[in-house]
Amino acid sequence: MNRSFKAVPVAKDVFWVGAVDWSIRDFHGYATQNGTTYNAYLVMADKVTLVDTVKSHFSDELLARVASVVDPSRIDYIVSNHSEMDHSGALQTVADVVHPEQVFASAMGAKNLVANLHPSVTITPVADGSNLSLGNKTLTFMETKMLHWPDSMFSYLADEQLLFSQDAFGMHLASMERFDDQLPAELLEAEAAKYYANILNHLSPKVQALLQKVKAMNLPLKLVATDHGPVWRDKIAWIVELYERWSAQLPTDRAIVVFDTMWESTALMAHAIAEGVSAAGARVKVMRMGADHRSDVITELLDSGAFLAGSPTLNNNIFPSMADVLTYARGLRPLNKLCAAFGSYGWSGESVKQIEQYFADMKLEKAAESVSVKYVPDADAVKLCYDLGQAVGAKLLAYKK
Ligand code: FEO
Repeated sequence: MNRSFKAVPVAKDVFWVGAVDWSIRDFHGYATQNGTTYNAYLVMADKVTLVDTVKSHFSDELLARVASVVDPSRIDYIVSNHSEMDHSGALQTVADVVHPEQVFASAMGAKNLVANLHPSVTITPVADGSNLSLGNKTLTFMETKMLHWPDSMFSYLADEQLLFSQDAFGMHLASMERFDDQLPAELLEAEAAKYYANILNHLSPKVQALLQKVKAMNLPLKLVATDHGPVWRDKIAWIVELYERWSAQLPTDRAIVVFDTMWESTALMAHAIAEGVSAAGARVKVMRMGADHRSDVITELLDSGAFLAGSPTLNNNIFPSMADVLTYARGLRPLNKLCAAFGSYGWSGESVKQIEQYFADMKLEKAAESVSVKYVPDADAVKLCYDLGQAVGAKLLAYKK
């Protein structure tokens, strides 16, 4: 056991005992340039309780951090707030060391943990709103179905006014700092926005409903302990306000122009469109696949009112990198965006129609007629692209009024 791993006090009798993954760069398709943490928490109540575990190969780090406070065999209960394997992967290994009296999860969590891990431990389902006595402290469970898995739930430790929020309000950010006030606000906002865009964006209506429900409960909150990134203790109202804004999916006066290119024709079109958007007075960002990652595109889309996409046609199809980003975006269901398609081709020209179909699937509003150009755009074609950009820009400006 690596005894250099220590627990970090979070509140009275509550310790962070998670793992820092400095090296992960791909989290199921989401580019994590800053790594991540898998947070787990130890509650030193009469019934010693572990809230969540970590990804499977970080079990030694978790157990070492626990051991810096108490012998891991003293753990009585394990609570799983979320069965995704970054938080449950180590559950069986930890249970083999700890031999817990009981393991708790939501009703769906109990099923999902069995389906994912095929564990030898029995999982006891807990009901929404039910309490679990830890002797001198009490945990209350709140289901958050589909935020973001069917099994997800929050656990609230009223004694410390602490909400264990699993993925909600989290971010992929590896750091030794464990609290929000120890990190720059710009970094927190950027990483939290990226997390929201890539993990929760398609669930925005459910996020809105949950925020309303939690607000109505009027829970005293001193700490929000997420499963990724820092614990919120200073900026709880701020991160909740950001979630309110992001989940409202309000359009802005900004377009993103996303493209890939074979022989620079589609690139030329993209840049002419961007010039047109800017000339109309709207903001614009150009993103080229290969240079930009799908997860950064969806993050930029969170703060945009228009999604403009361009692709060459390759062998009667959209370019593979554009199919990738559009498939990813379709799954994350951006709302309230204008859209337009463009592209170049040599002989068949299917790419623009295929982009239009992606946009139709996403139910985005077509802001201008598509532009499709054979081979290299001439001056007239460039003007068509510029005009498309201007038309989109003019519509975006209406959002400011
Ligand atoms: Fe961090 Fe949905 O797992």
